[in-house]
Amino acid sequence: MKKQVGIEALAIAVPRRYVDIEDLARARGVDPAKFTAGLGAKEMAVADPGEDSVSLAATAAHRLIQRNGVDPSRVGMLVVGTETGVDHSKAVASHVQGLLKLPRTMRTFDTQHACYGGTAGLMAATEWIASGAAAGRSAIVVCSDIARYGLNTAGEPTQGGGAVALLVSEQPDLLALDIGLNGVCSMDVYDFWRPLGRREAVVDGHYSISCYLDALSGAYRGWRERALAHEVVRWGDSLPGEQLARILYHVPFCKMARKAHTQLRLCDLEDAPGGQDSTPAAREEAAKSQASYEAQVASSLGLNARIGNVYTASMYLALAGLLHGEGAALAGKRVGLLSYGSGCVAEFYSGVVGEGAARRMAQADVEEVLAKRERVSMEEYERIMRLASDAPEPLTPAPGEFRLAEIRDHRRIYAAG
Ligand code: CAA
Repeated sequence: MKKQVGIEALAIAVPRRYVDIEDLARARGVDPAKFTAGLGAKEMAVADPGEDSVSLAATAAHRLIQRNGVDPSRVGMLVVGTETGVDHSKAVASHVQGLLKLPRTMRTFDTQHACYGGTAGLMAATEWIASGAAAGRSAIVVCSDIARYGLNTAGEPTQGGGAVALLVSEQPDLLALDIGLNGVCSMDVYDFWRPLGRREAVVDGHYSISCYLDALSGAYRGWRERALAHEVVRWGDSLPGEQLARILYHVPFCKMARKAHTQLRLCDLEDAPGGQDSTPAAREEAAKSQASYEAQVASSLGLNARIGNVYTASMYLALAGLLHGEGAALAGKRVGLLSYGSGCVAEFYSGVVGEGAARRMAQADVEEVLAKRERVSMEEYERIMRLASDAPEPLTPAPGEFRLAEIRDHRRIYAAG
C-alpha cells in the first residue's frame, strides 16, 4: 500500500493584542465598509517587538508538542518558513530548537520565499518522509511571520501576525497529501518585497493581486493535468475544481480568496470541453458564482478575518479555521490548497481530510487562543507600531509562551512563561 504522509496535527500562536478593523478605518477617515466588505477584514493582530517570528514560532511549536504528546526524540526535522526572520544567518529554527530544548539529532533550517516559505518547508518534510529517508521519524514545520506595511499605508489594513506549527508524519490525522499531483508556477516579478534592513514591506498592491492570480492559473492547471491523468477529478457534469470539497487559498486579506476562487473557476470554464463556445463575459459571470464561493471557500476564512495576514502561515490558518469548524464533516473528503509567495511562486496541491481531524483540532483549541487576546485602542496600536524593533516591552509571557526579552551583544534573549 502506498505510504500516507501529511499533516498529523497543528497548533497556532497569535499576538496578545488586536485592533478592531472598523476603529482603524475611522481613524484613517475611510468608510469602514471598505475594510469589512471591500477587504473582508474584522480584526487585525498587532505584534509588539517582544512578539517576533521566533517567539511566535516557539509558542506554536511548544503548544503542538505539549497538546499532542509528541515525543521530540522521534522528530528528525524542524523547519521554519518565514519571510520576517530575525537574523541574516542564524535560523529561527535554531532559536526554536534551543527554547524548546529539542534534541540535537534533528535537521534544523529555515525556508524563505515570501509567503510560500511554509509550503516549501512542508513539501521538503513530506517528500523526506515519503522517500523513506526519515525512517519513521516525523517533522515539525512552523510558519511564522509578522505582516507589516506601516502606519497610513494602503497595506495597513492587511497587516497581522502569528504562527502555525504543523506536525508532519505517516499518520496524517488532519490531511493526507496527494504526493506527486502538485502543480507549480513561478516568475521573476517585483510585486512585493522587503529590502534588507527594512521592517516594512514594499508592495505594488494591485500588481501583486494580478501576479497572484496569474501564478494561481499556472499552478492550478498543472495540478489539474495530473489529477485528471490519475482520475482524481474528471471533466463531467461538474468542473474539476468543483469536485474538491473545499479549496483553501493564500489569504493576504479575505477578499483575495474570493478573487482567487473566481480565477480558478475561470481556468476550468475556459478549458472545459466546449468551454470556448460561450462568450468571455458569460464565463466571467459564471466564474463569480456566489454559491460556489459559499460552498467551497467561505467557511475557511473565520480565523483569517480575525487575525489578518500572517504571510507564510495564512493558508495554514485557513486550514485550521476550516478543520476547526468542519473537521468531522469533511473526513474522507478531498480539499485543494493554493499557496502563493510574492516574487513569485504558486503551488497548488490537494489532500484528503483524515478521520482524526476533529479530535486533533480539539487539541489545538483555537477559540481559547483567540479568546485570550486583548482589544487595543488606535492610540495603543500606534504606540506599539512606533516601538523600536530592538526595544521589547518588559512584559511577562503567559505560561507556555515565549517573548523576546532583550538584545545583548547582538544576541537575542528570550523569556519563557
Ligand atoms: N464599501 C465597500 N467596498 C469598498 C468600498 C466601500 N466604501 N470602498 C472600496 N471598496 C472595495 C473596492 O471596490 C475593492 O474591492 P475589489 O478589489 O473587489 O474591487 C476593495 O474595497 C479594496 O479597495 P482598493 O482596491 O481601492 O484598495 P486599496 O487600493 O486602498 O488597497 C490593497 C487594497 C491593494 C489590497 C492594499 O491593501 C495592499 O497593497 N495590501 C498589501 C498587498 C497585498 O495584500 N497583496 C495581495 C497579493 S500579494 C500576496 O498575496 C502576498 C502577500 O501576502 C502580501
